[in-house]
Amino acid sequence: MVIMTTTSSLAFLPVLERIAEEMERTPGRGRPADYIPALAARDPRSFGMAVAELDGTVYGVGEWRQPFSAQSITKVFTLALDLAREGDELWEHVGREPSGNPFNSLVQLEYENGIPRNPFINAGALVVTDRLQTRTGDAAGELLAFLRAESGNPALDFDKEIAASETANGDRNAALAHFMASYRNIDNDVPVLLDQYFRQCSVAASCGDLALATTFLARHGIRSDGTRLLTRSQAKQVNAVMLTCGTYDAAGDFAYRVGLPGKSGVGGGIIAVVPGRCTLCVWSPGLDERGNSVAGVAALDRFTTLTGLSVF
Ligand code: DON
Repeated sequence: MVIMTTTSSLAFLPVLERIAEEMERTPGRGRPADYIPALAARDPRSFGMAVAELDGTVYGVGEWRQPFSAQSITKVFTLALDLAREGDELWEHVGREPSGNPFNSLVQLEYENGIPRNPFINAGALVVTDRLQTRTGDAAGELLAFLRAESGNPALDFDKEIAASETANGDRNAALAHFMASYRNIDNDVPVLLDQYFRQCSVAASCGDLALATTFLARHGIRSDGTRLLTRSQAKQVNAVMLTCGTYDAAGDFAYRVGLPGKSGVGGGIIAVVPGRCTLCVWSPGLDERGNSVAGVAALDRFTTLTGLSVF
């Protein structure tokens, strides 16, 4: 099924149709995340993919208008929102190197003095959310307002069931936050921070919504209303950290296969940026053992192969 909204370009629609057909025929789609029980019931064969162009044209194939749990994809937006406010001071509290470890790993934190390797592993995202919380008083609310504005979808919201499910199973994130607090790298009370972080991760949005919300990174920092969120240099920085850290301990393989800045979430979504050209979002809930969507990575791999578009 192909549904279009606006019609100014649609240049990639035939490519998306071909990819959707290929994915339909591909067996072995991984398993939905089950460490957050509310995510476990998702059908691993669901598939949607959208492209958003710089002028706000958005179109897609499959279930591209079906909301899903954005999860770690939101880490890109909180990073951008915090970087826009505090600039380089952020990098004194979180690094920008690939961790080579799972997204929820604790091991590096002790011998690196409570400074997480990068803003996309859970420890790093907790630091970013903490800093945004200090600056705004409502980090998750800031994120939601940004996503609503950039996607043009005022109905976007948190999923209370997912947030509650994650809170009830949040011991590992709580451990990360408390451990960093012991190094004075967390400002807010840990329960306040965790509530903000779990609500942030619970945002329900579709491929179309998330592709549109990501276009500021393809426009080198310019939002959909023409105002600037990030400097051109900061937009480059966020894209670079996505490329090197956005898919965790699979970031090397993702760069090799896809060749674009990308960010995954355990809801099965992945966003990707073609700077100066367009953004993509793909969703399929079956994950590999590193927490990245199996069909999502395969579809992005096919997109860059078929179009020749990548940053390389
Ligand atoms: O904190 C967690 O574990 C989840 N809310 C987010 C993890 C996630 O999406 C990792 N991405 N692949």
